Formats: sequence, C-alpha cells, structure tokens
Amino acid sequence: MPTMPTPHTEVRDPLANAAIAAELAAGLNAGAAAISPKFLYDALGSKLFEAICELPEYYPTRTEAAIVARHGPAIARAIGPDCTLIDLGAGNCAKAASLFPLLHPAQYVAIDISHDFLRDAIHRLQQRFPHIEMTGLGLDFSAGLELPGVVRREKRLFFYPGSSIGNFTPDQARAFLQRMHAQCEFDGALLIGIDLVKDSATLDAAYDDELGVTAAFNLNILRHVNRLLGADFKVPQWRHRGFFNEAESRVEMHLEARQDVRVTWPGGAREFRAGDTIHTENSYKYRQAAAVGLLEQAGFAAATVWTDPDQWFALIHARALPA
Ligand SMILES: C[S@@+](CC[C@H](N)C(=O)[O-])C[C@H]1O[C@@H](n2cnc3c(N)ncnc32)[C@H](O)[C@@H]1O
Repeated sequence: MPTMPTPHTEVRDPLANAAIAAELAAGLNAGAAAISPKFLYDALGSKLFEAICELPEYYPTRTEAAIVARHGPAIARAIGPDCTLIDLGAGNCAKAASLFPLLHPAQYVAIDISHDFLRDAIHRLQQRFPHIEMTGLGLDFSAGLELPGVVRREKRLFFYPGSSIGNFTPDQARAFLQRMHAQCEFDGALLIGIDLVKDSATLDAAYDDELGVTAAFNLNILRHVNRLLGADFKVPQWRHRGFFNEAESRVEMHLEARQDVRVTWPGGAREFRAGDTIHTENSYKYRQAAAVGLLEQAGFAAATVWTDPDQWFALIHARALPA
C-alpha cells in the first residue's frame, strides 16, 4: 500500500514561555487595558473565526475569494509557477488551497500561532495535495519572522490574506512588511489582502453580527488568557463591543465590564469599574493609494491591485525591490 505523504511540521506551542505571561500582565496593567489580538486564536478561537467567515455580515472572506475567482488567471500570470508559498496566519489553509491550482507552488509553508489547529489543517491539506511539499510552523510572527532552513529561498511569495495586516497600526504594519522584505531574497514578492474604507454601517455589522458569533470569538480571549496567565476572568461579567472608529480609520473590538470586576492572576490584579473596557483588536481600513504607499515604504514595488466591483477589498501583488 502506498504511504500517504506527511507535511514537515515544527508546531511547538509558541505561547508556552514566560515572556507571554509578562506581555499579558503588562497589557492588563496598562492605563488603557489591552490584550493583543493574537490571543484571540486558541483552537476554539480559530474555529469561531471559521464560523465568522460564514456570516452574511462578514464580507472580507467572500469578497477576497471572489477576487481570486475572478482574476485567477491574471494572478497566476503575475506570480508564475514554482513559488515558495509562505502563508502568514494560515488558519484552516483554505485560501492557500484555492491558490494551488493557479500557482502550482513548489513548496507550501503554513505559519500560525494557533498551533494545534494548524497541525490538523496542514495534515488534511497534505492528503488533498500529496504532490506539494508542505511545512507547518507554529510561530508567533509578532516576535520575529526568522524562517528555518527547511523553507526554500527561491521565489518566496509571502501570502498575507484576510486583511490581517489591519491588526497592526500603520507604523507596525510598515515594520512587519519590512521584516517580510528582509526574507524575500532577490526574487521574492508579496500577495496581500487589504480591507478598504467603506460605510460605517457595513463595518459595524461585520464586527458585531446578529448571531453573536463575533461576540463569542472576542469573549473567548478571556478563557485563553485565564489558561495562559492563570487569571480568573469570568466571561458573563463582560460584553462584546465592535464598531468603526472613523477618525482612526479602524474597526475596534473591546470587552466592556458589565459590572465592577476584580481580576487576579499570579503576581497581579486589576479592578475594572462597570463600563471599563479592554481593547482586544484593531482592524485598520485603508484607501487603495495608502495601501500601495505602505507597501512601497517597506521596499515592495510594481504593485498590481485587483479589487471587487464595490471596491471593498484589494488583493495586491508586489515584488520586493533589492535592499
Ligand atoms: C483573521 S485570521 C485569518 C486566517 C486566514 N489567513 C484567512 O485569511 O481567513 C488571522 C490568522 O492569523 C493567525 N495569527 C494571528 N496573530 C498571529 C501571530 N502573531 N503569529 C502567527 N499567527 C498569527 C491567527 O491564528 C489566525 O489564523
């Protein structure tokens, strides 16, 4: 019987270290309390995000998929075959899988902080595409983007879909893109999905849906923090808030205390008054020219932009200029 191929995986838990507890405690102690959005993604958080992608209100996933479906041949021509496809925040790897028939990558490298979810996703994907060499890396890329030797150096294509770049402030986004650029060698490129500015009602609904799936996704961060930090957050004491902040051009997610709350963890504690909030996510929305400008400032050029008829979302391919 032929043996099924297995992906190469280096998926140790990237959150199992003392620095993570210190980072969480610093965020909870800050004047404006905050928890990084990367902590939204434990195994359940990743599943809840998959559910969000199915919601009628959450337009980014289906809009980006429609751009790929409509412009697939042009995307394939721009990128060419045999790239090293590096998927940043791969999640269930579904978007990369939709590119395989277009790009015929020589290697697929899936990176995600949600290491258990990633391990399952890439094993399933390898069964569907046994001829593609695959590697799964459990990494927190906010802590650095050093890639291990197993990742091919030729024709690296950093794939960063879903507008995840919007979780960074524009300055942080530029710095992160520069880190990608540094890993591009002489023939690297970027394929990035960026959400564009649109009306507030559409944005508010996308991050505060009727079924409360986004609320569950946001509240689940508290359980994850309880496990990572040994904190004693009680979920029923908090409510989800998600809204477009037009002045900052970003959607913000917060958790708001329903009552006065005292939260403790080993070595720390914080009192929250009813109505106090913890900031859990930003999702910056760009104008198309500003998005291209950001890529250029990070050393990427010759951008090709594909968008949808409503101009809600942009998928951009750009080559890395020599450093
Ligand atoms: C908004 S989801 C996008 C998932 C998928 N790429 C898509 O477009 O549908 C963000 C993904 O990035 C991962 N992620 C978030 N922060 C990360 C970090 N600091 N390091 C590695 N992965 C991260 C999450 O686990 C999640 O799978």
